[in-house]
Amino acid sequence: MEKERIILIGCGEHARMVMDNIDQMKNIEVFGLVIADKADTGKKIMGYEVVCCDDDVDLLLKENPDISGYFLGVGDMRIRQRLAAKYDDKLKAVNIIHPAAIVSRFVTIGRGNLLEAYTKIANGVIIGSHCIVNSFTSVNHDQIIGNNVLLAGNVSMAGKSIGDNTLIADGASIGFKKSVGRCCIVGDGAVVTKDIPDYSIVYGNPARKVRENVWEG
Ligand SMILES: CC(C)(COP(=O)(O)OP(=O)(O)OC[C@H]1O[C@@H](n2cnc3c(N)ncnc32)[C@H](O)[C@@H]1OP(=O)(O)O)[C@@H](O)C(=O)NCCC(=O)NCCS
Repeated sequence: MEKERIILIGCGEHARMVMDNIDQMKNIEVFGLVIADKADTGKKIMGYEVVCCDDDVDLLLKENPDISGYFLGVGDMRIRQRLAAKYDDKLKAVNIIHPAAIVSRFVTIGRGNLLEAYTKIANGVIIGSHCIVNSFTSVNHDQIIGNNVLLAGNVSMAGKSIGDNTLIADGASIGFKKSVGRCCIVGDGAVVTKDIPDYSIVYGNPARKVRENVWEG
């Protein structure tokens, strides 16, 4: 099988989690890591070498035209949004779908998504681009997930839709046919029983809004 050669953007804790997943992918080969700080160039993290910093990436791509793709290894959602805008113009964002993810054949999925082991994505689901779905999260049928959405581990999704740039934290539960707007944070273990408006931070059971999520996105 021909491998897609990619760069991984980032080298922190989220990047290391992404590397665990990439290690299981037969069709992807990491050329190296691209980081924010030039001082880290040359370092090795989990066997992957930091090959350059963000500012020098155009030169790297010019010298290595066989690099065709990239993946975001940064967890912060605001930074992810900015980096995706930058790198989508240069390279193809690849999907990393762990071989142990359970994904229906009838799912529509964009680019640059990470689906970890033991996620379950049921039929009719539409997933945008640059989303993260951590292990043991279940997305039931016919839901719409926007762009740059983070579904952390053990999330139970029976809802209708999740807007762009929204984080659903570990162990939360989105009730039947409920929607969560864009740029929201649903806290750990929250139980969403009503639709959540854009830019809300909610937690608790039943989930209540505690404040606005200030976001320019
Ligand atoms: C939801 C969230 C934004 C709340 O943050 P916060 O308002 O700063 O909360 P604090 O830690 O200051 O706690 C304030 C109060 O809320 C309570 N609280 C915070 N999160 C809670 C939750 N998920 N459920 C119930 N209560 C919660 C705290 O116990 C505290 O109560 P107290 O005032 O009685 O002591 C934060 O917990 C969060 O970001 N969670 C997401 C974590 C994440 O990124 N997960 C993804 C990992 S991949």
